[in-house]
Amino acid sequence: MTRFQMIPRLVLGMGMTCLALNAAQADEMTTQTPSVEKHSFGQLPDGREVEAYRLYNGHGIDMQVITYGGIITSLRTPDAQGNVDDIVLGFDALEDYRSEAYRKSNPYFGALIGRYGNRIAEGRFMLDGTAYELATNDGPNHLHGGDKGFDKRLWQAHSFENDTGVGVELRYISEDGEEGYPGRLETRVTYTLTTDDEVIIDYHATTDKATPVNLTQHSYFNLEGEGSGSIVDHRLMLNADAFTPVDDTLIPTGELRDVAGTPFDFREATPIGARIGEENTQLAYGKGYDHNFVLVRDDAEAGELATAARVVAPESGRVLEIATTEPGIQFYSGNFLDGTLTGKGGEAYEKRSGFALETQHFPDSPNQADFPSTILKPGDTYESRTVWRFSTQSDDS
Ligand code: GLA
Repeated sequence: MTRFQMIPRLVLGMGMTCLALNAAQADEMTTQTPSVEKHSFGQLPDGREVEAYRLYNGHGIDMQVITYGGIITSLRTPDAQGNVDDIVLGFDALEDYRSEAYRKSNPYFGALIGRYGNRIAEGRFMLDGTAYELATNDGPNHLHGGDKGFDKRLWQAHSFENDTGVGVELRYISEDGEEGYPGRLETRVTYTLTTDDEVIIDYHATTDKATPVNLTQHSYFNLEGEGSGSIVDHRLMLNADAFTPVDDTLIPTGELRDVAGTPFDFREATPIGARIGEENTQLAYGKGYDHNFVLVRDDAEAGELATAARVVAPESGRVLEIATTEPGIQFYSGNFLDGTLTGKGGEAYEKRSGFALETQHFPDSPNQADFPSTILKPGDTYESRTVWRFSTQSDDS
């Protein structure tokens, strides 16, 4: 019996209030009805409880989110034959997200990233005449919010249901000065799992002092199933005709470089591994792909969704489509995974056993006057939306 089945479950179904069901009844119901289950995911050393919310869309997809880091610990979807697999890298136990080995390799599996996703050069920026200094936790640079970013914070949560599906709303207040950033940032992120097989991620933040904000979600996908090996055969389309080349510490040079004629041209669906081994300075700096792509937004207005990416897994036929209101997407091909972490299915996560597609503003924007601004001012609201849509196909297109 799994730990999950042993605890009495509280199931919140669409149009229902609280129902206490036994495990068999709950399983039956949750496969057919959009619903949410809540249970404990363990305790932090200071005694605070970490909660897990399991969302079921009543259409074969379920996803679990924990309040530590807003981490998506599992996401199970059917393949073209109807077999359900977990398609995100992660762990079953809180300890694994907090272990020494995890901290050392710091892959940010499934986590919410903030206050600033990706890198800020040398952990420094100027804002309104004041110099700010942040932790340098990635060689000489600041990465993903610093030593204790939003991925390592406990969020307050509650579940909800609405016309589109079921979800969980997470809130975190980042105090003025936390990790060196100015302003008290009130952050709210909602995950909605829709009956149309989408995960909608809505980000919202306000501040009382001007501050850089760049929130993202750091799930690693393997659409053949987590732990099933390399992702290099996945076919990727990126709706980007430029990318931001980097220096050898992965800080953008400021250039927006045309992808045409380079291994960064994914405008036509191409296997991730097709050109990853080519001799190319940018690929060498990233040890593969670890670059921000400049999305083509055609006539999408700011705040409107535009297509960003489409990924197809050739064996299972699973398809992931990503749309976003953001101007960029970091495509990271799992280059730093090295087999030292073992996932929930018992397999070691080797190099390139998962990929991340992190919708975002461009890295190091606080130091790049020509990049779209990431500065949130008091009185303004940070709003961002990303949608993952899951489907299957049986041909190889
Ligand atoms: C982002 C970065 C990568 C790496 C991962 C986490 O994708 O760009 O360089 O740090 O996060 O391991």
